[in-house]
Amino acid sequence: MEKHADRLVQLRDMTPDDLAQAHALSRKLQWPHRLDDWDFMLRAGIGLVAEEDGAVVGTILGWPYGATMATVGMVIVAEEKQGAGIGRRLMDAIMARLGDRTIVLNATAEGLPLYTRLGFTPFGEIRQHQGAAFSVPIPSLRPNERVRPLSSSDHDAIVALDRRACGMDRASLFAELRKAAHGVVLDRDSRAIGFALFRRFGRGYVIGPVVAPDVEGAKTLISHWLGSNAGMFSRVDIPGDDDLTAWLDDLGLPCVGRVTRMARGPLAPPDTDVHTFALASQALG
Ligand SMILES: CC(C)(COP(=O)(O)OP(=O)(O)OC[C@H]1O[C@@H](n2cnc3c(N)ncnc32)[C@H](O)[C@@H]1OP(=O)(O)O)[C@@H](O)C(=O)NCCC(=O)NCCS
Repeated sequence: MEKHADRLVQLRDMTPDDLAQAHALSRKLQWPHRLDDWDFMLRAGIGLVAEEDGAVVGTILGWPYGATMATVGMVIVAEEKQGAGIGRRLMDAIMARLGDRTIVLNATAEGLPLYTRLGFTPFGEIRQHQGAAFSVPIPSLRPNERVRPLSSSDHDAIVALDRRACGMDRASLFAELRKAAHGVVLDRDSRAIGFALFRRFGRGYVIGPVVAPDVEGAKTLISHWLGSNAGMFSRVDIPGDDDLTAWLDDLGLPCVGRVTRMARGPLAPPDTDVHTFALASQALG
């Protein structure tokens, strides 16, 4: 039965006009997203708001990838409205919009109980590294490898590498990323085997996605961006990898937080030859 509070708080599609209020909600949580970051995320996907008396009191974004996969993020309920079932309603509504797709998300400690009740199960963690690197050793490349700037003709190849690494066809996300990000490609024998994107985000820059065959390849790609932006505040969100964590710590980008990766539905078996070493962002996955 519909409760009184459910009638006061209405859910509807998020539009660009809601972004200033959505941004105010994330700022209140001390999350670093700029208004431009919200704009980027909404353009890449779909969004819903919970509204009460014309004020946005809750947000959620979803990114459908093909017919089978999706990610969800920016699940926020204004502090004074929490515990009244709004988070649950936002999740139910976005799940209805995403249909039978497997949904992947990165859960904060606050979100974990809600997602667990909705049938999400943990499958790993994401470590948030950030800071400024002042001295970055030049990576040693194998003789047949080189790092070069990404060009528009690489688009299909990097979408394909990303698909192998994360099991999702994220062409729609990359269509937005190509407008907002710079990129480098790791070639081996003149064939693209990895890439790393770099764009403005939050307090500085984000390095990601980073896709590579191994951790050495990932370090090579990340070094490129840290070395060419020495002293600039940068963030890298990495799936738990102790080697990469220790390396980033040493460079001046300590781990400042962890979130739990969760999924509802089947995940593609991981590719053995190419892996994701950094996310597009914690919300986007
Ligand atoms: C996470 C968040 C969105 C939840 O929103 P909410 O409106 O307070 O959640 P609800 O009132 O709908 O609660 C949802 C369910 O989780 C349960 N729940 C909520 N918080 C809980 C807690 N701390 N411990 C145990 N259960 C909890 C509720 O009992 C409810 O269960 P039910 O539907 O079976 O009754 C909200 O706390 C928030 O905005 N937190 C800060 C931002 C954040 O971390 N977001 C998550 C990003 S991944």
